[in-house]
Amino acid sequence: MDPNLSDHDADVARAALPPAEFYRSPAVHERVVERAFARAWHWIDAEGLPPAGHARPFVLAPGTLDEPLVLSASADGARVHCFSNACTHRGALVVRTSCKNASLRCTYHGRRFDEQGRFVAAPHFEGAADFPAPADDLAPARWNALGPLHFAAVAPRMDFDAWLGSLRTRLAALPLERAELDRSRSRDYEFDAHWALYVDNFLEGLHVPYVHPTLNQAIDFDTYRTELEPWGSVQIAKASDPKDALELANERDVGGLYYWLFPCTMVNVYPWGLSLNVVQPQGHARTRVLFRSYVWDRSRLDQGAGAGLDQVEQEDEAVVQLVQRGLRSRLYRRGRYAPQREHGVHHFHQLLARCLNER
Ligand code: FES
Repeated sequence: MDPNLSDHDADVARAALPPAEFYRSPAVHERVVERAFARAWHWIDAEGLPPAGHARPFVLAPGTLDEPLVLSASADGARVHCFSNACTHRGALVVRTSCKNASLRCTYHGRRFDEQGRFVAAPHFEGAADFPAPADDLAPARWNALGPLHFAAVAPRMDFDAWLGSLRTRLAALPLERAELDRSRSRDYEFDAHWALYVDNFLEGLHVPYVHPTLNQAIDFDTYRTELEPWGSVQIAKASDPKDALELANERDVGGLYYWLFPCTMVNVYPWGLSLNVVQPQGHARTRVLFRSYVWDRSRLDQGAGAGLDQVEQEDEAVVQLVQRGLRSRLYRRGRYAPQREHGVHHFHQLLARCLNER
């Protein structure tokens, strides 16, 4: 029962769940942050892209990675660059607020960079050998977008489209270009539990009849299924009432698509638009979850599986905290998976095990 999951069985029918120590250990959590979170894509909590010729600072995965980065748009707006905001002299933040990017100047000792983060000049460095070098450019990061959603990564294990899996293809039939952020339907939640318990809960529909009675009436539980993808999974729920269904290219009567992208991003697709859920660990025992609603059809809000999301979240939050308390028990060791209903959870744990144990 290794808390680093080195003995996690690839066969869901034989595998045991992670031991309680996986969820209780600050050291294991730190390892997960560096090996999983720092090597994946994360949503950028910013109002779209900076205007042409401007740079905008942001923090990637606040409370988890706290990685200071910059988005910078070329003068004609045709290209977007993403790079580190930590000055290559002594690490001060270079860009503090949105600004023009023709010459980015560190306010500590005056080092300057261009719109792509490349070194331009540094006062009083005469005599420094082999200077400047490529290491004096602001370190590049990665940026990409899916409709109105923007993502960045520091050193991802996977390309952006490999990370998205089938999500982009499935969304192709939907009016993603019309989706607009609705702040009145967006919330931040924070509670005392390990972040992976929240993801575990998201990845199985087994609990829906017990924890979400209202949602359970909106979907046909018997048709609920999970499809695994290389870096995520999708759960597909048929609508109880066909008039509350999504209009997909090659599948009928779907009430909701529940995408999870490793390790902490969820994109839920409903007839009215997208509900983005971003899980942000705040240490090993506290979790923040951001809910952002991107609406393309207001007339279908509050219908079917896409209704009452605030209630569903609070029901999930409550049950996850019950698990957190139970995992402190000296008598609990580890459980098993329901192979037909929890293979999405098992897949998540397999990906974690791979990240934690690769050489
Ligand atoms: S830290 Fe930026 S110039 Fe010194």
